[in-house]
Amino acid sequence: MADLTSTFCGVTSPNPFWLASAPPTNSGYQVNKAFEAGWGGAVWKTLGPPVLNISNRYGSLTIDGKRMLAINNVELISDRPLEVNLREIAEVKRNWPDRAVIVSAMVDADPRAWETIIRQIEDTGADGIELNYGCPQGMSERGMGAAVGQVPEMCQLNTEWATSVASIPVIVKLTPNVTDIKASARAALAGGADALSLINTINSITKVDLDTFSISPTIGGRGTHGGYAGPAVKPIALHMLSELMTDPDTVASGVPISAIGGIVTWTDAAEFFLLGASSVQICTGAMHYGFRIIDDLVDGLSNWMDDKGFATIEDFRGRALSGVSTFGQLDLSYQAVARIDTNACISCNLCYNACEDTAHQCIDLVDTAGQVVQPGFDRNANGKAVADSRPKPVVRESDCVGCALCANVCPVDGCITMVTVDSGRQPVTWDQLQAESPAVTTDWDAMSAYRSTVGIDIH
Ligand SMILES: Cc1cc2nc3c(=O)[nH]c(=O)nc-3n(C[C@H](O)[C@H](O)[C@H](O)COP(=O)(O)O)c2cc1C
Repeated sequence: MADLTSTFCGVTSPNPFWLASAPPTNSGYQVNKAFEAGWGGAVWKTLGPPVLNISNRYGSLTIDGKRMLAINNVELISDRPLEVNLREIAEVKRNWPDRAVIVSAMVDADPRAWETIIRQIEDTGADGIELNYGCPQGMSERGMGAAVGQVPEMCQLNTEWATSVASIPVIVKLTPNVTDIKASARAALAGGADALSLINTINSITKVDLDTFSISPTIGGRGTHGGYAGPAVKPIALHMLSELMTDPDTVASGVPISAIGGIVTWTDAAEFFLLGASSVQICTGAMHYGFRIIDDLVDGLSNWMDDKGFATIEDFRGRALSGVSTFGQLDLSYQAVARIDTNACISCNLCYNACEDTAHQCIDLVDTAGQVVQPGFDRNANGKAVADSRPKPVVRESDCVGCALCANVCPVDGCITMVTVDSGRQPVTWDQLQAESPAVTTDWDAMSAYRSTVGIDIH
């Protein structure tokens, strides 16, 4: 049986699944309930200066009836009295010594403000402090949250103020609303951060009402940009984690990273561990389905680890990183083509339309007699469509560039697969080309000559 015990910068928890700082961790009642359900840790909803929240604060993204593919919020930090939060944190930590209790904080850019809040948090017996440099709405207009996270100098300075007084681990939670997450991470590390977490929410407007013309969520007819989270942000979070886990400065620091962003299932979590995360945090998944998802997270990950022969998370943490590359290091001679399983094909023509209209025109529709035909049904003598007579798509492999659009639009799992074929060309990367034949990478005539030499036919 796999051991899911997690140790994150010295803080242990029975499993690596923590609730992220957000509405699910707003009170002692909730965090107690979450721990009873089996969550390994919780990052308390951000504490800071007094705020007034507004009503109607969440919007969301629905696509094809799938609700909450992303949530959008214009919520601020905790609006509960500070002393109530501090008292409840102390109670929760006393009652749950084996769980990770981290407290998120955000204050004015002032060393005295950091010192005060850190002392108050430490007095609760909490295991660590997470500095919230991420909120992209409301608090950022007041010089906190993303306003700090987006300016590396501010990120470093605020972190220094916090780490210089803290005696428990300081985790810096990064904002994804930047062009280079590595610069933010390096600033946090220079400020003495013991760990990093990412991502906080992404600035967004999720919807415009076509009748009222107001944006969502609407607060008395007005709206504002809000923080975007949930399943739709997972690819961005995975990418940012991989950027840090392949950044020499971050790696050399040895600090652990708690990954956040779009995690709902154990498979989501496993992907983040494979890219190097040491713990994961979840907000929208819990908001959508409740604390009970912890059962599936724990059982699913543990079963998968048993199947793979991994005894602990450390056994597979970061295993996907060796495959993360720059574009310049990819083999330009690699060739894949699409193959369609005609037995599985439902003749929906999505692959054909996608290829014909927007890709490389290498799928033919072939009728039962093997003839290439136009989309449509066979007709009988009376002009009636013959049932099940739609032609099947067939890839002309010699023309297929292996873009994989057809495989991505196909609604039938496993119907279209990308198959590796021999291109007949010598392996070469763009970086090698640039080094060995610089003209090829700058001059169109040289590129054309190179293509005909190696046999790349672009038409
Ligand atoms: C409604 C809502 C409120 C949030 N409040 C906070 C907060 O107070 N402090 C914080 O650090 N992050 C806050 N977050 C961000 C989450 O902690 C998390 O970083 C983000 O939602 C991405 O994770 P997810 O995709 O699992 O939701 C909030 C997110 C949501 C959706």
